[in-house]
Amino acid sequence: MRNATEADYDPIIARVDEWWGGRPMRGLLPRLFFQHFEPTSFVIETDGTPVAFLAGFISQTDPTVGYVHFIGVDPAHRRAGLGRRLYERFFETVAVNGVTRVRAITSPLNEQSIAFHRSIGFAVLGMHADYDGPGDDRVLLERALAS
Ligand SMILES: CC(C)(COP(=O)(O)OP(=O)(O)OC[C@H]1O[C@@H](n2cnc3c(N)ncnc32)[C@H](O)[C@@H]1OP(=O)(O)O)[C@@H](O)C(=O)NCCC(=O)NCCS
Repeated sequence: MRNATEADYDPIIARVDEWWGGRPMRGLLPRLFFQHFEPTSFVIETDGTPVAFLAGFISQTDPTVGYVHFIGVDPAHRRAGLGRRLYERFFETVAVNGVTRVRAITSPLNEQSIAFHRSIGFAVLGMHADYDGPGDDRVLLERALAS
Protein backbone atom coordinates (compact mmCIF):
# COMPACT_ATOMS: atom_id res chain seq x y z
CA MET A 1 0.00 0.00 0.00
CA ARG A 2 1.17 3.51 -0.79
CA ASN A 3 -0.19 7.00 -1.26
CA ALA A 4 -2.13 7.55 -4.47
CA THR A 5 -0.58 9.73 -7.19
CA GLU A 6 -1.92 11.26 -10.38
CA ALA A 7 -0.32 8.37 -12.29
CA ASP A 8 -2.88 6.07 -10.66
CA TYR A 9 -5.80 7.89 -12.23
CA ASP A 10 -5.81 6.29 -15.70
CA PRO A 11 -5.56 2.65 -14.57
CA ILE A 12 -8.14 3.15 -11.81
CA ILE A 13 -10.69 5.13 -13.83
CA ALA A 14 -10.54 2.38 -16.46
CA ARG A 15 -11.69 -0.09 -13.80
CA VAL A 16 -14.20 1.69 -11.57
CA ASP A 17 -17.38 1.01 -13.54
CA GLU A 18 -16.54 -2.71 -13.63
CA TRP A 19 -15.63 -2.74 -9.92
CA TRP A 20 -19.01 -1.12 -9.12
CA GLY A 21 -20.85 -3.91 -10.94
CA GLY A 22 -21.37 -1.94 -14.15
CA ARG A 23 -22.77 1.21 -12.51
CA PRO A 24 -21.54 4.36 -14.30
CA MET A 25 -19.24 5.70 -11.56
CA ARG A 26 -16.45 7.35 -13.59
CA GLY A 27 -18.15 10.74 -13.63
CA LEU A 28 -18.11 10.82 -9.82
CA LEU A 29 -14.33 10.36 -9.62
CA PRO A 30 -12.58 13.19 -11.46
CA ARG A 31 -8.79 13.37 -11.77
CA LEU A 32 -8.62 16.09 -9.11
CA PHE A 33 -8.91 13.44 -6.36
CA PHE A 34 -5.59 11.98 -7.51
CA GLN A 35 -3.98 15.41 -7.95
CA HIS A 36 -4.92 17.24 -4.78
CA PHE A 37 -5.53 14.61 -2.08
CA GLU A 38 -2.40 12.42 -2.25
CA PRO A 39 -1.63 12.53 1.51
CA THR A 40 -5.04 11.04 2.40
CA SER A 41 -5.60 8.73 -0.59
CA PHE A 42 -4.13 5.26 -0.97
CA VAL A 43 -3.62 2.50 -3.52
CA ILE A 44 -2.87 -1.18 -3.06
CA GLU A 45 -1.22 -2.76 -6.08
CA THR A 46 0.10 -6.17 -7.04
CA ASP A 47 2.67 -6.48 -9.84
CA GLY A 48 2.14 -2.83 -10.78
CA THR A 49 -1.64 -3.18 -11.16
CA PRO A 50 -4.04 -1.40 -8.77
CA VAL A 51 -6.29 -3.84 -6.92
CA ALA A 52 -7.81 -1.44 -4.37
CA PHE A 53 -7.93 2.29 -3.66
CA LEU A 54 -9.35 4.86 -1.26
CA ALA A 55 -9.90 8.51 -2.19
CA GLY A 56 -10.32 10.63 0.95
CA PHE A 57 -9.56 14.02 2.45
CA ILE A 58 -9.85 16.19 5.55
CA SER A 59 -12.81 18.58 5.48
CA GLN A 60 -11.85 22.18 4.71
CA THR A 61 -15.01 23.29 6.53
CA ASP A 62 -14.41 21.26 9.70
CA PRO A 63 -10.85 19.94 10.08
CA THR A 64 -11.99 17.47 12.76
CA VAL A 65 -13.86 15.57 10.04
CA GLY A 66 -12.31 13.15 7.56
CA TYR A 67 -14.28 12.19 4.48
CA VAL A 68 -13.93 9.15 2.25
CA HIS A 69 -15.28 9.82 -1.20
CA PHE A 70 -14.55 6.47 -2.86
CA ILE A 71 -13.24 3.09 -1.77
CA GLY A 72 -13.07 0.24 -4.25
CA VAL A 73 -11.56 -3.24 -4.38
CA ASP A 74 -11.07 -5.42 -7.46
CA PRO A 75 -13.77 -8.13 -7.31
CA ALA A 76 -11.03 -10.79 -7.59
CA HIS A 77 -9.48 -9.50 -4.33
CA ARG A 78 -12.56 -8.98 -2.15
CA ARG A 79 -13.15 -10.33 1.36
CA ALA A 80 -9.38 -10.45 1.88
CA GLY A 81 -9.25 -7.45 4.19
CA LEU A 82 -7.99 -4.89 1.64
CA GLY A 83 -10.88 -2.50 2.20
CA ARG A 84 -10.38 -2.69 5.96
CA ARG A 85 -6.62 -2.05 5.56
CA LEU A 86 -7.29 1.02 3.40
CA TYR A 87 -9.64 2.46 6.02
CA GLU A 88 -7.20 1.70 8.85
CA ARG A 89 -4.46 3.58 6.98
CA PHE A 90 -6.81 6.51 6.39
CA PHE A 91 -7.86 6.59 10.06
CA GLU A 92 -4.21 6.58 11.23
CA THR A 93 -3.24 9.29 8.75
CA VAL A 94 -6.04 11.72 9.53
CA ALA A 95 -6.09 11.10 13.31
CA VAL A 96 -2.58 12.51 13.71
CA ASN A 97 -3.86 15.66 11.99
CA GLY A 98 -6.67 16.22 14.49
CA VAL A 99 -9.54 14.34 12.86
CA THR A 100 -11.96 12.87 15.41
CA ARG A 101 -14.67 11.45 13.13
CA VAL A 102 -14.84 10.11 9.61
CA ARG A 103 -17.82 10.36 7.32
CA ALA A 104 -18.86 8.64 4.12
CA ILE A 105 -22.04 8.29 2.13
CA THR A 106 -23.30 5.43 0.04
CA SER A 107 -26.31 4.45 -2.03
CA PRO A 108 -29.13 2.76 -0.08
CA LEU A 109 -29.11 0.13 -2.83
CA ASN A 110 -25.44 -0.73 -2.15
CA GLU A 111 -26.02 -3.30 0.59
CA GLN A 112 -22.46 -4.65 0.45
CA SER A 113 -21.10 -1.15 1.06
CA ILE A 114 -23.42 -0.62 4.04
CA ALA A 115 -22.45 -4.04 5.51
CA PHE A 116 -18.76 -3.28 4.92
CA HIS A 117 -18.94 0.13 6.57
CA ARG A 118 -20.82 -1.26 9.58
CA SER A 119 -18.11 -3.92 9.92
CA ILE A 120 -15.43 -1.19 9.90
CA GLY A 121 -17.25 0.52 12.77
CA PHE A 122 -19.36 3.10 10.97
CA ALA A 123 -22.82 3.94 12.30
CA VAL A 124 -25.67 4.70 9.94
CA LEU A 125 -26.76 8.28 10.72
CA GLY A 126 -29.78 8.08 8.45
CA MET A 127 -31.06 7.95 4.92
CA HIS A 128 -31.58 11.23 3.11
CA ALA A 129 -33.92 11.34 0.12
CA ASP A 130 -32.69 13.35 -2.89
CA TYR A 131 -29.36 13.99 -1.07
CA ASP A 132 -27.35 14.24 -4.29
CA GLY A 133 -30.16 15.54 -6.45
CA PRO A 134 -33.62 14.29 -7.41
CA GLY A 135 -33.83 10.52 -7.06
CA ASP A 136 -30.28 10.15 -5.70
CA ASP A 137 -30.91 9.08 -2.10
CA ARG A 138 -27.89 8.51 0.17
CA VAL A 139 -27.13 6.72 3.44
CA LEU A 140 -24.96 8.87 5.75
CA LEU A 141 -22.26 7.00 7.67
CA GLU A 142 -19.99 8.14 10.49
CA ARG A 143 -17.25 6.58 12.62
CA ALA A 144 -15.62 8.18 15.63
CA LEU A 145 -11.84 7.88 15.94
CA ALA A 146 -10.24 7.05 19.27
CA SER A 147 -8.46 10.10 20.68
C1 LIG B 1 -17.22 -2.57 -0.23
C2 LIG B 1 -15.80 -3.04 -0.60
C3 LIG B 1 -14.89 -1.81 -0.70
C4 LIG B 1 -15.29 -3.98 0.51
O1 LIG B 1 -13.93 -4.29 0.24
P1 LIG B 1 -13.26 -5.69 0.75
O2 LIG B 1 -11.79 -5.56 0.60
O3 LIG B 1 -13.92 -6.83 0.07
O4 LIG B 1 -13.67 -5.68 2.29
P2 LIG B 1 -12.91 -6.45 3.51
O5 LIG B 1 -12.38 -7.75 3.01
O6 LIG B 1 -11.93 -5.52 4.13
O7 LIG B 1 -14.15 -6.71 4.46
C5 LIG B 1 -14.18 -6.31 5.81
C6 LIG B 1 -15.50 -6.72 6.40
O8 LIG B 1 -16.59 -5.99 5.77
C7 LIG B 1 -17.73 -6.85 5.65
N1 LIG B 1 -18.03 -7.05 4.23
C8 LIG B 1 -17.22 -6.79 3.18
N2 LIG B 1 -17.86 -7.08 2.00
C9 LIG B 1 -19.08 -7.53 2.35
C10 LIG B 1 -20.19 -7.99 1.58
N3 LIG B 1 -20.16 -8.05 0.24
N4 LIG B 1 -21.30 -8.41 2.24
C11 LIG B 1 -21.36 -8.36 3.60
N5 LIG B 1 -20.31 -7.93 4.38
C12 LIG B 1 -19.21 -7.51 3.75
C13 LIG B 1 -17.37 -8.16 6.31
O9 LIG B 1 -17.73 -8.09 7.69
C14 LIG B 1 -15.87 -8.18 6.17
O10 LIG B 1 -15.22 -8.98 7.12
P3 LIG B 1 -15.11 -10.59 6.87
O11 LIG B 1 -14.65 -10.79 5.45
O12 LIG B 1 -14.08 -11.01 7.89
O13 LIG B 1 -16.49 -11.14 7.10
C15 LIG B 1 -15.82 -3.84 -1.94
O14 LIG B 1 -16.83 -4.83 -1.88
C16 LIG B 1 -16.08 -2.98 -3.16
O15 LIG B 1 -15.14 -2.43 -3.76
N6 LIG B 1 -17.35 -2.85 -3.60
C17 LIG B 1 -17.70 -2.08 -4.79
C18 LIG B 1 -17.43 -0.60 -4.60
C19 LIG B 1 -18.23 0.01 -3.45
O16 LIG B 1 -19.42 -0.23 -3.32
N7 LIG B 1 -17.54 0.84 -2.61
C20 LIG B 1 -18.13 1.44 -1.42
C21 LIG B 1 -18.91 2.68 -1.71
S1 LIG B 1 -17.84 4.08 -2.21
